[in-house]
Parts: sequence; structure tokens; C-alpha cells
Amino acid sequence: MDRRSVLVVGGSSGIGLEIVKGLALQGDETYVGSRTTEKLAGVEKVHHLAFDVQELPDQLQGLPDVLNALVYCPGTIRLKPFQRLTREEFLEDWQINFLGAARTIQACLPHLKKAPAGASIVLFSTVAVACGMPFHASIAGAKGAVEGLTRSLAAELAPRIRVNAIAPSLTDTPLAADLLAGDEKRKAAAERHPLKRIGSAQEIARLALFLLSDDAAWISGQILHADGGMGTLKTFK
Ligand SMILES: NC(=O)c1ccc[n+]([C@@H]2O[C@H](COP(=O)([O-])OP(=O)(O)OC[C@H]3O[C@@H](n4cnc5c(N)ncnc54)[C@H](OP(=O)(O)O)[C@@H]3O)[C@@H](O)[C@H]2O)c1
Repeated sequence: MDRRSVLVVGGSSGIGLEIVKGLALQGDETYVGSRTTEKLAGVEKVHHLAFDVQELPDQLQGLPDVLNALVYCPGTIRLKPFQRLTREEFLEDWQINFLGAARTIQACLPHLKKAPAGASIVLFSTVAVACGMPFHASIAGAKGAVEGLTRSLAAELAPRIRVNAIAPSLTDTPLAADLLAGDEKRKAAAERHPLKRIGSAQEIARLALFLLSDDAAWISGQILHADGGMGTLKTFK
């Protein structure tokens, strides 16, 4: 496969960082958009673009002329009773999860359209869209919009650009650290899943790498549920 240029927004931590490591192993030219860089220190030849997705400019400086793929990882886990959610909290979840993704895609589209063999976009949703869970109103609303964006853009940009999303359940990353603090919480979280464990950043990253690859060339407009069965299975006997 030819060397590709890929932008991973939110490639400095968790799932995004594992995607960046995988791309580096494949020899892809990798660009990371994020606010911090510390965890990228061990990854070779990564270009860093410093920006906050809550203050995105119309044009991203430092992108290559041709982009073969884009991954948008920034997300939030704000679990709160519905009546206590403030306007500011709804807006922050919306900006980071939905608007940041939409505006990043707008800024990248001229570059993605130049990819000779077509391009691929991967977004992130959550299991809490397909499966109602208490206290998830704000994040489920914002990620539900991401799923709508995924399907709309997959239709609008076909056949040249594929757009898919991954909807994980609880995955062991810094974002989920509070929910996984201590053995008891980890055990309870694993137990809630039909497959009896939480996800790892590496396995979610491998799914993203698959969606970016030519092996997924006939897949677009899909929400892939990597969730230990949480979103669809009932395992009581
Ligand atoms: N982990 C889970 O349990 C879980 C479950 C369901 C869905 N998801 C989804 O999976 C995706 C990846 O999550 P993760 O667990 O890997 O998260 P993570 O470890 O917190 O990483 C998030 C990445 O996004 C970047 N980011 C966050 N806010 C940003 C901002 N305002 N501007 C620029 N960059 C920003 C962070 O970089 P900087 O801090 O350097 O800016 C970091 O690289 C998210 O969309 C999340 O909603 C995760």
C-alpha cells in the first residue's frame, strides 16, 4: 500500500494514541491534532498541530495538501442526572463531540477530496446511543448527532469518501479513569458486560485501523458497536 497521510484529532491519548502508534507501524505519515503532546514523545515522526477543538479556526494550519484519512477522537463522559445538567455542560459536550467533528471535517474536506483513491473518515460515538442508560442524556444526545452526521456525510460524500463511526462501551483510557478507579469499580464494570470485561484502547484502535484500510473499502455509513455485547445482548438464562 502507498504511504498515506492521516490526521488523527485527539491522537495524544487513549484510543487515538493507539491509532497513531498503529499508523506509525504501518509507515503512514501521521498528523496529530490536540492540545498536549507529552504522550506522543515515544512515537516517531508524528507531526503535531496544536489546537483546541472548541476554538477551531476555519482552516487548519500545517495539513498536507492531500489527506487520505481523518479520525476524530475527542469526546467527553459526563454522567449526571438530567435535571442537574446546565446549559454550559450541554454546550461543551455538543462542541467537543459533534461540532468539533463537523468543523474538522469541513476544514479537511478540500484535502481529503484530493486523495487519488478516495478517503476515509472515522468518528466516535458511544454504546449509550443504542442503549438507554441513566445519567447519559447530554453525551448520548451529542453522540446521537455524531451518528446522524456519520450517515448523512457517508451519503453526501459517496463514492469518494467513506464515513463510519465506532461506538465503544467502557474502555480503559484516561477518559474513563474515574469510572475505573479501583479494583471494585473495574470488576463491577466488567461484570455488567455480556462478554465480562471492559474494552482496551488497542482493540478499539485496531477496529479504526481496519475502517481506514482498503479492507473496509465497501463499508460506509456504518456505526460499528465494539462494546462487549453491552448495546444489544441480554445474557440472562
Ligand atoms: N473510553 C471510553 O470508555 C469510551 C466509551 C465510549 C466512547 N468513547 C469515545 O471514544 C473516543 C476516544 O476516547 P478516549 O477514551 O480515547 O479519550 P481520551 O483518552 O480522553 O483521549 C481524548 C483525545 O482527544 C483530545 N481532546 C480532548 N479534548 C480536546 C479539545 N478540546 N481539543 C483538542 N483535542 C482534544 C485529547 O488530547 P489533548 O488532551 O492533548 O487535547 C486526547 O488526545 C471519544 O470520542 C469518546 O467519547 C470512549
